[in-house]
Amino acid sequence: MRSLRRFGIIAIVLAVAMGGGVFVVNRKQPDDTTNPATGSTAPSFDKQKYATTDPVSMWVVVNKTRPLNPKTYAPGDLIIPSLPLRLGSGNGEMQLRAPAAQALEAMAAAAQNEAGLKLMLASGYRSYNLQVSVYNAEVKSYGQAKADTESARPGYSEHQTGLAADIEPASRKCEVADCFGSTPEGQWLAANAYKYGFIIRYLPDKQGVTGYRAEPWHVRYIGTELSNELHKQGITTLEEFFDLPAAPHYLQ
Ligand code: DAL
Ligand code: ZN
Repeated sequence: MRSLRRFGIIAIVLAVAMGGGVFVVNRKQPDDTTNPATGSTAPSFDKQKYATTDPVSMWVVVNKTRPLNPKTYAPGDLIIPSLPLRLGSGNGEMQLRAPAAQALEAMAAAAQNEAGLKLMLASGYRSYNLQVSVYNAEVKSYGQAKADTESARPGYSEHQTGLAADIEPASRKCEVADCFGSTPEGQWLAANAYKYGFIIRYLPDKQGVTGYRAEPWHVRYIGTELSNELHKQGITTLEEFFDLPAAPHYLQ
């Protein structure tokens, strides 16, 4: 009898200790978020997981106040994605960094399989020197003020990271034009890009934040971890998600 009672006491002490352990493990951490509907807690998203300043990081934020560092940065893992290309595969602009290229291939395959749509790469990686030509041509055609709302200065373009792509229908309808957003391809892209780790980087209501007018064709690869989180939270710019200053203008 006595040993049975002792066993019972030991069991109770153990249960309390283990319960306490579980409690410690589950205790709400300062960075947890509580869902008011369910009262349950979920670990919050780690916004510091990857750098937003390093051009190699897939979370790098590039805008008019955040040039690439160094401005002549060139990625080391460029490949040619397997999907229709606007220019020949020998053209350097048809390359993307490997993770972005693979995600774009998966996205193009899904557009084809799910909706019968053929996506084409209009522009991918642009070197510093190529961006010099692109930007200068824009300035020549439209003047610097308008050019600065449409084309990044060299060293300030997401295309130079190898993580941005301009997408068009394989038919080239509405090629890099406003009407792309109304095409079936543009609408599919807007609705589905996040599933493959991309965001539409320049939305019509966010010029005051991103510095550029709407570009429904320009997607930026950030990885699915971040693109799903942005989608979940309904946040559409990297500046707002990472609490960075709006970048409507160059500092100089
Ligand atoms: N058109 C975008 C803003 C670029 O030039 O990178
Ligand atoms: Zn673009």
